[in-house]
Amino acid sequence: MTSHSPALAWLGTGLAGRTLARVSAAWLLLALLGQLVFVIYVLGFYGRHALAGQPELWNQVLPHGWRAGHTWGNSVLAGHLLFTITILLGGGLQLWPRLRHKAPGLHRWNGRFYLLSALILSLGGLLMVWTREGVGLGGLGQHLGISLNALFILVFAWLGWRAARQRRMAEHRRWMLRLFLVVGGVWFFRIGLMLWLVVNQGPVGFDPKTFEGPFLTFLSFAQTLLPLAVLQGVLWAQASQRPAQQWAASATLALLLLATAGGIAAASALMWWPRLV
Ligand code: HEM
Repeated sequence: MTSHSPALAWLGTGLAGRTLARVSAAWLLLALLGQLVFVIYVLGFYGRHALAGQPELWNQVLPHGWRAGHTWGNSVLAGHLLFTITILLGGGLQLWPRLRHKAPGLHRWNGRFYLLSALILSLGGLLMVWTREGVGLGGLGQHLGISLNALFILVFAWLGWRAARQRRMAEHRRWMLRLFLVVGGVWFFRIGLMLWLVVNQGPVGFDPKTFEGPFLTFLSFAQTLLPLAVLQGVLWAQASQRPAQQWAASATLALLLLATAGGIAAASALMWWPRLV
């Protein structure tokens, strides 16, 4: 297989192609680090209170999260939080090229577990949004936005799994990259919201008491659709082999790298860290 084959187009040829490959890798590394901070928060907040036998303290963040006597609903929430940890850590492992090449068996098993986690998180999430009263999400617009995210997770997981089974590896890689981004949707929502709050020096476009408003409705769709659109642009630029298109994609990604770093810093400092201390 040469570096011109479609499966390896992402490695890039020529200065523009190689730059795009490097900027993409840098963004991915930053995203994985940012998701690791999210995992540390989930472990340090939800995990710590669960281990101390005080899951009711989860309600400091999710006002109606833990409900005494609601075994089924509480289990769905606990499972949701547990699988948050496995899916975010598992995603990093799956994308690590060395592991894919050196330990393909581990890649396959971790991949199966990743898909199972995706299934549990999206179905459990849908159940909570549409059946639990007073869950910590805004109005109908946001419910539809996060439900679209769940639907995309399910569809991409299916398409990625099927492509791997049929040994269509370039296609498998594309669907899995899309799955990784939509699984990260809730993380994009949080870093996007915190960046917005910092840039605007306060809540703009939504009511912080009801957690409703046009900006949050927009964000609940953008958390899924915007990363997918950017990925599609990058994939087209890689496949086109046209330097102008590749430079444009690199410049867009470089800007998004800065925005992502800003969002991670803002979410860590304003949302996650204060809940750990
Ligand atoms: C697949 C990736 C997902 C991850 C990693 C994830 C992670 C989390 C985390 C960490 C929380 C706790 C809130 C916080 O402390 O920030 C949470 C809450 C919640 N998630 Fe998810 N989630 C995912 C997908 C979904 C989906 C697709 C839905 C809905 C369709 C959903 C619905 C909810 C709801 C409703 C809550 C709040 C529960 C309550 O208020 O009782 N999640 N999620």
